[in-house]
Amino acid sequence: MECKKVVLVTGASTGMGRATVRFLARQGFRVIAATRSPESFTDLSNGNVTALAFDITDPKSVRSAFEHIDRLDILVNNAGYGLVSTVEDMDETEMLEQFNVNVFGLLRVTKYAIPLMRKGGGGVIINISSFLGKIGLPLLTMYNATKYAVEGVTDSLRYELADFNIRVHSILPGFFDTQFARSNLVTNEKTFSDHSPYAGMVSKLAPQIVEQINHGNDADEVARLIYRIIEDENFPARVTAGEKASKFIPMRKELSDEDFERRVREYYGI
Ligand SMILES: NC(=O)c1ccc[n+]([C@@H]2O[C@H](COP(=O)([O-])OP(=O)(O)OC[C@H]3O[C@@H](n4cnc5c(N)ncnc54)[C@H](OP(=O)(O)O)[C@@H]3O)[C@@H](O)[C@H]2O)c1
Repeated sequence: MECKKVVLVTGASTGMGRATVRFLARQGFRVIAATRSPESFTDLSNGNVTALAFDITDPKSVRSAFEHIDRLDILVNNAGYGLVSTVEDMDETEMLEQFNVNVFGLLRVTKYAIPLMRKGGGGVIINISSFLGKIGLPLLTMYNATKYAVEGVTDSLRYELADFNIRVHSILPGFFDTQFARSNLVTNEKTFSDHSPYAGMVSKLAPQIVEQINHGNDADEVARLIYRIIEDENFPARVTAGEKASKFIPMRKELSDEDFERRVREYYGI
């Protein structure tokens, strides 16, 4: 009998991570739900799901979590949050923490996943990026920078790991209705103050972004896409998910930088 393939999903407690854990467990994978809140998985512990306490910002926590893993076929790097701040207002901690979670956290986990995949003869790494990994927006500069970085990591790792039969892909979601806008958008106090010189921009853009996320696509779409990537050895390097990303990413490629910027300004009234 063939052994069940083992998948590790980071940021598993809510949103796309949780939807992916649920979906892949139903498809018969053995799923390790890597999370800061393993207690939130009692309802999903159906034999195929193991919740593993994991803090991707802490190298020791990542290393000791991997001591419990002896086989890994698929890694879904999903954990992430968004800093909403002007560059002028953000402080050192906010700036570093955004990269610590979205980029260095992803790399810390990937670093330990690679040798297990090599040992097993291959694997698949799927990075949850964002359409903001290809498109810039004001107030989201640091989040943008991390997701552009995730795109770069994906491109480089594809070369580095191809000889070991390890595929690397990125998914660029548009807006998805998860906990992201409710719990994981961190706002800078000065940027959101009524006295901020950016108050006009903030009052136009921030509510639209929150509204678009909270009325966005269903996280199950991403879970199904992840399953398709795992199953299809010829799947392209990157793929968009959700309506807005599928509209804006091709437009970004077709238009000049200036024309694209004009379209975004018109769209958001900024
Ligand atoms: N929702 C959208 O519109 C959207 C669009 C494009 C891209 N994305 C990306 O999709 C991924 C999943 O987000 P989601 O939409 O499913 O949002 P979500 O429901 O907020 O889930 C994000 C998960 O990331 C983990 N996380 C958040 N802040 C963290 C921190 N400071 N340190 C460590 N882990 C942290 C949490 O996992 P644990 O609590 O389990 O540790 C959380 O469950 C993220 O990388 C996000 O950037 C989202």
